Amino acid sequence: MNPFKFGNVVTGQYFTDREKEIKELVSEIKAGQHIVLMSPRRYGKSSLVNEAMKDSGMKWFRINMELIADEVDLANYYVRNALSLSKFERIKHYLKDLKVQPYIQIQPETNEISVSFSAEKRNISTLLSDSLQLPETIAKNMKKRIVIVFDEFQEIRRISSMLERKMRGIFQYHQNITYVFIGSQESMIREIFQNKKNPFYKFGRHITLHKIAAPEFSDFIIKRFSAQKIDASKIIKDILRFTGCHPYYTQQLCHEIYILNEKKILVRGIINNAVDQIVTEHHADYSRWWNSLTNTERKVIIGLTSGDCNPTSQEFIRKYGIKSTSTSGSVVSKLVTLGTLVKKERERIKIEDPFWEKWILKNR
Ligand SMILES: Nc1ncnc2c1ncn2[C@@H]1O[C@H](COP(=O)(O)OP(=O)(O)OP(=O)(O)O)[C@@H](O)[C@H]1O
Ligand SMILES: [Mg+2]
Repeated sequence: MNPFKFGNVVTGQYFTDREKEIKELVSEIKAGQHIVLMSPRRYGKSSLVNEAMKDSGMKWFRINMELIADEVDLANYYVRNALSLSKFERIKHYLKDLKVQPYIQIQPETNEISVSFSAEKRNISTLLSDSLQLPETIAKNMKKRIVIVFDEFQEIRRISSMLERKMRGIFQYHQNITYVFIGSQESMIREIFQNKKNPFYKFGRHITLHKIAAPEFSDFIIKRFSAQKIDASKIIKDILRFTGCHPYYTQQLCHEIYILNEKKILVRGIINNAVDQIVTEHHADYSRWWNSLTNTERKVIIGLTSGDCNPTSQEFIRKYGIKSTSTSGSVVSKLVTLGTLVKKERERIKIEDPFWEKWILKNR
């Protein structure tokens, strides 16, 4: 079995321990400190919170805001998840208190509940208030703290423009719930939680998740290969140099290396073969991404792949035929917001996906 996995949440043996981060999260969450967890895409936020919650032994549920269509849908998810934490005998009691009554189906063998509201427009606000309040009522009765994790929280603004105010208005009185907000669009998350004008201003403690540290990632990769009797010690530095220790891309590259590997001791050439293979496999996606870019965006990206790393300099715009430094600046901001480029303090601007960067270099 391939010892590397990429895509969704990873757990168990596919997850490097991230011990420090888990410890910090668990201790904050147990103390009732609300958390805002941020990082660029695919650094492992969802996986980390999963592990932390498992470690904590606390009752919790996750709402993936990406999957929520509208406010009624949110209420459905909310009530269903909250009820699943309570004792079966108590469910009727909780449902009785809801002003808008749901349709309920119960699987007798598993006690699994399916709840659905079909609220009329005039009822939506009441329905939402009741649903958002329900976990606090349950937690109080159980005398146990409940943790609610909102994944991709920035999606709140797509669901409804009133939702932020509504949620904050209700959450601020909750004594028995810890809220964890996960977000990958940093600018939007900062806007929601750090702009004084917005309801969630300073609602939780910010934690930025970084890439996995190179020594820890090296150990993990070497161990995973060696469990399959493969020695990766000679190429580990080159693997991490290529991926920049990005959790997702590192697992993707190692996954491919494992597929291609025929020898028991890995040598450098296999990295190039694996990269080529990935670039070829994703040709359709990469080409679609490229074609969705405007002309100026393409120029900025071409410049970056060619090793010129300051897109807002006079030299850069002259070399790549961009109208002005401000045009270049706004293109960079847009691409950073979209996650196509990454820019960290004291680091240079980079193309986020190292395989796409290779594809661009190869195809031009
Ligand atoms: N602790 C870890 N150890 C090893 N690999 C990891 C770890 N965390 C994340 N990864 C790799 O990164 C991938 C993405 O992880 P995850 O979905 O948790 O990230 P995310 O930050 O929630 O992503 P998104 O921004 O897409 O929601 C995983 O499938 C795995 O390959
Ligand atoms: Mg996630």
